[in-house]
Amino acid sequence: MRKPIIAGNWKMFKTRDEAIAFIYKVSEAMPSIKEVDTVICAQAPMMRCLIKRQGENLRIGAQNLYYEDEGAFTGEVSGSLLNSYNVEYVIIGHSERRNYFNETDEMVNKKIKAALRNDLRPIVCVGEHLEERENNLTNQVLTTQIKGAFEGISAIEMEQIVIAYEPIWAIGTGKTATSEQANESCGYIRELVRELYGSIVADGIRIQYGGSVKPENIDELLAKEHIDGALIGGASLDPDKFIAMANAATKK
Ligand code: 13P
Repeated sequence: MRKPIIAGNWKMFKTRDEAIAFIYKVSEAMPSIKEVDTVICAQAPMMRCLIKRQGENLRIGAQNLYYEDEGAFTGEVSGSLLNSYNVEYVIIGHSERRNYFNETDEMVNKKIKAALRNDLRPIVCVGEHLEERENNLTNQVLTTQIKGAFEGISAIEMEQIVIAYEPIWAIGTGKTATSEQANESCGYIRELVRELYGSIVADGIRIQYGGSVKPENIDELLAKEHIDGALIGGASLDPDKFIAMANAATKK
């Protein structure tokens, strides 16, 4: 009943021309938006030219936003600007933002609120470091991140949210979590949402897995009960791979 969502996170890759060539190739090959949501999250300056060419079934997202709507914040990008360009999704709290740019759960929470008041759909990333998994702290870390992220967010607002479970040790390492590990953690997140918001929200919220997803492993991951899609880094840069992964979700 939950519509799958396949999102590419291009991170800091591709020039304008490379991005346009990609969009021309994939936009016609995307599955119907009635069956699967597909999104490409690109660097902010190239979003406008991608939105113009996105076609019917592909959406463009941002990788970050600032939590104020305007002001003297040199170099930041506002939710109000993203909204004015018809950007639909925004990744919030990616582990690279948390690790390299010191984003805290409190900032993630403010950014989610900024996204929601600007009609953007947040893709909220959570996930543990390798040492945390090895010390059986995964659930504790997820609990802190989820409670921190959604502090003060209402059940109605939760309908706009997508959660991405991205174990940090699986990002860009080629080391995918097993489908069982990924499903277990996505299921744990769903139970946390159930505790906080009840069953209607928990059963409706979409939870993606991210971390070395590729055409070769996406079927097995999407076959799992609690995995409703994927947030894909490296493999989303290749148009043929992105088309294959988007279409794999039609079997969910
Ligand atoms: P990779 O797919 O390159 O491991 O990256 C995952 C990710 O960080 C998506 O946000």
